[in-house]
Amino acid sequence: LILILDFGGQYNQLIARRVREHNIYCEVVPYKISAEEIKAKDPKGLIFTGGPSSVYGEKAPQCDKEIFKLGIPILGICYGGQLMAHTLGGKVNRAKNREYGKTALQMNKDSKLFKGIPQDSICWMSHTDFIEAAPSDFRISATTSDCPVAAMENQEKGLYAVQFHPEVEHTEKGKDIIKNFLYEICNCQGDWTMGNYIEKEVEDIRKLVGNRKVLCALSGGVDSSVAAVLVHKAIGDNLTCVFVDHGLLRKNEGDWVEDIFKNQFKMNFIRVNAKDRFLEKLKGITDPETKRKYIGELFIRVFEEESQKLGDFDFLVQGTLYPDIIESGTETASVIKSHHNVGGLPEDMKFELIEPFKFLFKDEVRMVGTELSVPEEIVWRQPFPGPGLAVRVLGEITEEKLNIVSEADAIVRDEIKKAGLDREIWQYFAVLPNIKSVGVMGDERTYSHTIGIRAITSSDAMTADWARIPYEVLENMSRRIVNEVEGVNRIVYDITSKPPATVEWE
Ligand code: XMP
Repeated sequence: LILILDFGGQYNQLIARRVREHNIYCEVVPYKISAEEIKAKDPKGLIFTGGPSSVYGEKAPQCDKEIFKLGIPILGICYGGQLMAHTLGGKVNRAKNREYGKTALQMNKDSKLFKGIPQDSICWMSHTDFIEAAPSDFRISATTSDCPVAAMENQEKGLYAVQFHPEVEHTEKGKDIIKNFLYEICNCQGDWTMGNYIEKEVEDIRKLVGNRKVLCALSGGVDSSVAAVLVHKAIGDNLTCVFVDHGLLRKNEGDWVEDIFKNQFKMNFIRVNAKDRFLEKLKGITDPETKRKYIGELFIRVFEEESQKLGDFDFLVQGTLYPDIIESGTETASVIKSHHNVGGLPEDMKFELIEPFKFLFKDEVRMVGTELSVPEEIVWRQPFPGPGLAVRVLGEITEEKLNIVSEADAIVRDEIKKAGLDREIWQYFAVLPNIKSVGVMGDERTYSHTIGIRAITSSDAMTADWARIPYEVLENMSRRIVNEVEGVNRIVYDITSKPPATVEWE
């Protein structure tokens, strides 16, 4: 175990990912953790992250000073390194020039941290303060033209600090530096794999649940699907999955999800066909927020009705991921949030949560899914909004418009897949903007719907750019949609980034 003390830097989760890439389990903990608590967890090493503060600032986050005396190796990165220098008697100061970006680094080859790495390479800097002087019992192990102490260390005490960011890809040898810290300095074994993770989770869930009942709200998305398969592996028929089909899914998606879980995985699987109820509820509604609200509310009501039919259950499965936990800070907060995720099930329902992925990142869940033979189409599924196609049909939703958009969407997805772009593009879909325009087909005048194609690249959907799809692929989509989908005579491509637009049109 490696513990990462979080001082609020923007790359904190990235550090955790980097450690895990070396098959070593790590957890991100608040910087306030005490030396005693750390000792109890018995980690092999600690990493202090960067952060936005200055060690001299009034509210500068400080760690428990006893931590430095535990004899556990520490790697301080950026702010974490400055804090180490400041606490142990070195000097940190405001840099004349804020250093940002790729910077040439000279490393000392005798340092364990830089073992096997060329002495000159490029690192990524992003800091305002810098370590001006190392504490007296430290030696300087790297420099840049602006940083007299780009890295420092006290090998006997196992204390290492770097001013640059080894976790960022732009640091050429960053991976090796982190690896050296983990293997050469902390003596980690590197035996954490997804296979082991699955085994342990299955055993833990089995022990926890015994012969009691577990419910899972399955959406067909990556997280809930893989969670369901994992829990099913542990407890078999004591798990029941409820899949609320609101009729706003993509073409054939409902049948496909049902087939996988019922027939392939042989789970207790209940599909609730609620399309008519949803369409009825959405009749005449054009305001985007009202649509979303109605869909959310009805979804909960239907799920609730169904779960009540099943009688009491003791646990609810949630596909909560580690970033949600890190972002909400504490265990307590995470539980409140997960409850909220279910969509506010009634307060008086008593159940415990099973969150098998609360310590995993999305790409790790994908690896678990692959190990558990979850079909690739689910493991690599693109994000799909809870309210489904309802936010892709602008204005009032009718069955006819839903059919048009779902047919067009199927073509968009098919062409992206054929072009081999399905893992490159974050999201790609069709929108029905509710505009009719004049066209000509054969010798006939037409007056039909327009379809918008939306495709974006992104890493987290917080910001996005429109995807530069090759013209030929766009042409295929356009030709096929107009030919194959009745009621469409014009195709447009959305070339706005986010911001100012959003990914979805509503
Ligand atoms: P926007 O449109 O806000 O979308 O730029 C950002 C990302 O979130 C997805 N999205 C949703 N996901 N429930 C969800 O689970 C929703 O109500 C919802 N609305 C948008 C969207 O597809 C994109 O990936």
